Amino acid sequence: MVAFHLITLFPEMFSALSSGITGRALTQKLISLDFYNPRDFTKNKQKRVDDAPYGGGPGMVMQYQPLHDAISQAKAAATQNPLVIYLSPQGKPLTQEIIRTLSQQKSFVLIAGRYEGIDERVIQKTVEAEYSIGDYVLSGGELPAMVFIDAITRLLPGVLGDETSSAHDSFENGLLEYPQYTRPETIDGMRVPAVLQSGDHAAIQRYRLQQSLGRTWQKRPDLIKKRVLSEEEQLLLKMYIE
Ligand SMILES: C[S@@+](CC[C@H](N)C(=O)[O-])C[C@H]1O[C@@H](n2cnc3c(N)ncnc32)[C@H](O)[C@@H]1O
Repeated sequence: MVAFHLITLFPEMFSALSSGITGRALTQKLISLDFYNPRDFTKNKQKRVDDAPYGGGPGMVMQYQPLHDAISQAKAAATQNPLVIYLSPQGKPLTQEIIRTLSQQKSFVLIAGRYEGIDERVIQKTVEAEYSIGDYVLSGGELPAMVFIDAITRLLPGVLGDETSSAHDSFENGLLEYPQYTRPETIDGMRVPAVLQSGDHAAIQRYRLQQSLGRTWQKRPDLIKKRVLSEEEQLLLKMYIE
């Protein structure tokens, strides 16, 4: 069981995780979600969690005390030593490699910011890692936290059946996945590549590797540059390009 402890002003947003693969993982108790709303930790009558930024400027900033107390409670409730992560556009970009490494972890505290962000001292005091889901700014950390939970969950043993194994997914071997086809054989004048119906498993594997290499070269040249290609891969890619 992997426990996700969520620090969020909008716990209701996480109901989206009750669908599909993450929903099944929740029912099977392969993952758990627990919520700590900073608003429940305020010490003022209005339950305010934000205030104006020092130095001026637009927007509001989430205050230290409610966040700190919510995080402390989450850490105290965690049975395994949790990794405290702040989802932030300023964090390290999340990759499948990072997700695979973190999928060994048994417990997380995920902090979803709102407004202009959170008081920097929360980060100084309690945050162990900051991750971004891309170079764009969202209005809150809830969607990034859900992205994180989904990506981790599908790598946990027992979550995906063999028929939906993650081993061939894009990025797993530094390449994008090969193209997929399903019935019917011909549609709108387009035929499934013959090799996929040949029954020749070695030929199918070679075709798929070549497609993976080719489409990564076309769509994500940055990934191809990073990857060391074997002699066979170099040859397959050369044939694809020609
Ligand atoms: C409007 S954003 C704050 C952005 C902040 N003013 C900045 O420019 O760095 C509010 C919250 O959304 C979340 N967030 C926004 N974009 C994100 C991204 N690309 N990845 C992860 N979290 C993000 C963070 O939790 C952040 O505290």
